[in-house]
Amino acid sequence: MNTEKILVTSALPYANGPIHLGHLAGAYLPADIYVRYQRLKGKDIVYVCGSDEHGVAITITADKENKKPKEIIDRFHNQNLDSFRKFGMSFDIYSRTSTQVHHKTAREFFTAFYEAGLFREKNTLQLFDEKANKFLPDRYVEGICPNCGFEGARGDECENCSANYEQTALINPKSKLTGETPVLRESYHWFFPLDEFQKRLEEYVETASKKYHWKENVLNQVKSWFKDGLKERSVTRDLDWGVSLPLEEAKGKVLYVWFEAVLGYISATKELFESRGEPEKWKEYWQNPDTRYLAFIGKDNIVFHTIIFPAMLMAWNDNRPDQYILPENVPANEYLIFEGRKFSKSRGWGVYVGEFLEKFPADPLRYCLAANSPETKDASFYWKEFQMRNNSELADILGNFINRTLTFTSKNFEGAVPEAGKLEEIDREFIEIISKTPEIAGNLFEQYKVKDALTELMNLARAGNKYFNDSEPWKSVRTDKERCATTINLCIQAIYSLAILFEPVLPFSSERLLKILNAEKKGWDEASKLNLAAGHKLGKAEILFGKIEDKVIDEEIARFTEEPAAENVKLIEYDDFAKIDLRVAEIYSAERIKKSEKLLKLQVRIGKEKRQVVAGIAKFYDPETLVGKKIIIVANLKPAKLFGLESQGMVLAAEDSQGKLQLVELSPDTETSARVK
Ligand code: 2FM
Ligand code: ZN
Repeated sequence: MNTEKILVTSALPYANGPIHLGHLAGAYLPADIYVRYQRLKGKDIVYVCGSDEHGVAITITADKENKKPKEIIDRFHNQNLDSFRKFGMSFDIYSRTSTQVHHKTAREFFTAFYEAGLFREKNTLQLFDEKANKFLPDRYVEGICPNCGFEGARGDECENCSANYEQTALINPKSKLTGETPVLRESYHWFFPLDEFQKRLEEYVETASKKYHWKENVLNQVKSWFKDGLKERSVTRDLDWGVSLPLEEAKGKVLYVWFEAVLGYISATKELFESRGEPEKWKEYWQNPDTRYLAFIGKDNIVFHTIIFPAMLMAWNDNRPDQYILPENVPANEYLIFEGRKFSKSRGWGVYVGEFLEKFPADPLRYCLAANSPETKDASFYWKEFQMRNNSELADILGNFINRTLTFTSKNFEGAVPEAGKLEEIDREFIEIISKTPEIAGNLFEQYKVKDALTELMNLARAGNKYFNDSEPWKSVRTDKERCATTINLCIQAIYSLAILFEPVLPFSSERLLKILNAEKKGWDEASKLNLAAGHKLGKAEILFGKIEDKVIDEEIARFTEEPAAENVKLIEYDDFAKIDLRVAEIYSAERIKKSEKLLKLQVRIGKEKRQVVAGIAKFYDPETLVGKKIIIVANLKPAKLFGLESQGMVLAAEDSQGKLQLVELSPDTETSARVK
């Protein structure tokens, strides 16, 4: 028996909202498919995940809803756990970072580094909201990205260009608590010297990526971090929600969420084996050089799993006798977008997993997400594609092969496997396909190439349909019963193999199919054989994949193209609107800004006054075409610096569903400086 040990983790999702289809396609479905495949291969595998319950992702949601963080995490932990279960995720444990064992584990890591004198400690200047009397860590501030000019960039990273920066570099910072401009205030913090680990991390990535064939997208990101040079990272935050520090002088501070969330994988494994009455056994995975560790994530988590977490494990190993293993591979997926646009539930764009599974079964969704997985580049979920894959692939190819074979068997062979007779060329060719598919598809699963593996599996069903057609059992049943029996025998054998091979992707259907076949689940390699003896009685046939009608899909499409419900619109007072000074301006000069793909520098006239405005419209307008246009600008916006240029106002533009901007233009005879109201 092959007892290779494999440890698999999927990124711990924040328990601050329901998971959507994009999450599934990134870090969950690919891991679940891999794990189910390896279980069928007989590997000793442990798959852990859980909720990430600390950090400002949680407290901001709690503030918004006027609830305690505990209420938020309980609600979404349970909701997400339920969605994952219905989607067929086969975690060995779905834990959470608010558990005692996690707090203890995280503090142990902090203490180990603290006692080893690893941290740099210093007073730093942090953004502070005087009105709320609170520091504003991470996402508590928003402003303009100092790198790309994106408005609404987070305190420490820009969603638009992925830049990381000090909070103090943010342009026009505003508190998310009160909307006030924060002040700087001193606060004492502990820093992990990531820079000191750069050389060893580079060696680790170099070796592991070559040996285990890391994905291009992962490697490119890691290399660009190395190129910029790793910098020390603060591991503490001025927050009261999180893992408190085991130090007297650190009252009112907690560990930075990322410094402890990654350790959640370890805590969850401890909890798993504790619950199985084998409290020490987690070490056989985490501290065993023969265990292979694979960390499945989405692309926004790459740096934390290829650099920060490995550095923390190295630092532990440097200072303590027990030695952790590092990830062998970090197979990160790119993003899944929804109908061509980024998922954004606040803008009504996308579907939650829970909602989806109330209407459709899990397997077609798993199939569609896997067949169109964002393995190497962003992919899009389209309702029409979901319908097509369900109807034309699952129902018409796989379902049809199963159905026609089993109906025929019940009609002509009393629902039992007929005995095969003499094999002919056409039979031998089909047997060859059955015997080769497990190895071919298996190798692709090993390399995280789910899309290609799925094609191979579907090809077996296609080959089944072709074999059935070419063999014409509806004729041979009358002319040559032995020939007919051979055909049907082999078709049933192929269906048994399909039931095993599709289990990682279609676990629910695979289980039903095994019941229909009245057969046990077997290992992956067994699927290459002809397993069912002649005379084996089959169970009751049923339709595995129902068709989805146009009407049903059109309703779904209509739902998200509707205007947002009025309750989602935040109403303002007229006075709020009146505060905005909107003026007609004429553009008299427009030019590109070096190194910026997005921004144009505009010179405009508002009556006699001249202003410079930096606008994010470079992708949509040639500067020459803009001169002479009458547009509307927000004339009383506080000036901001973008790419070192002062912007003294903002232009009004309409953004369409594809993100394209169009300036709001007025007729050429409109008087500049006229007020827009
Ligand atoms: O991006 C996220 O949703 C994070 N909560 C992922 C954490 S992964 C690991 F560190 F736990
Ligand atoms: Zn940016």
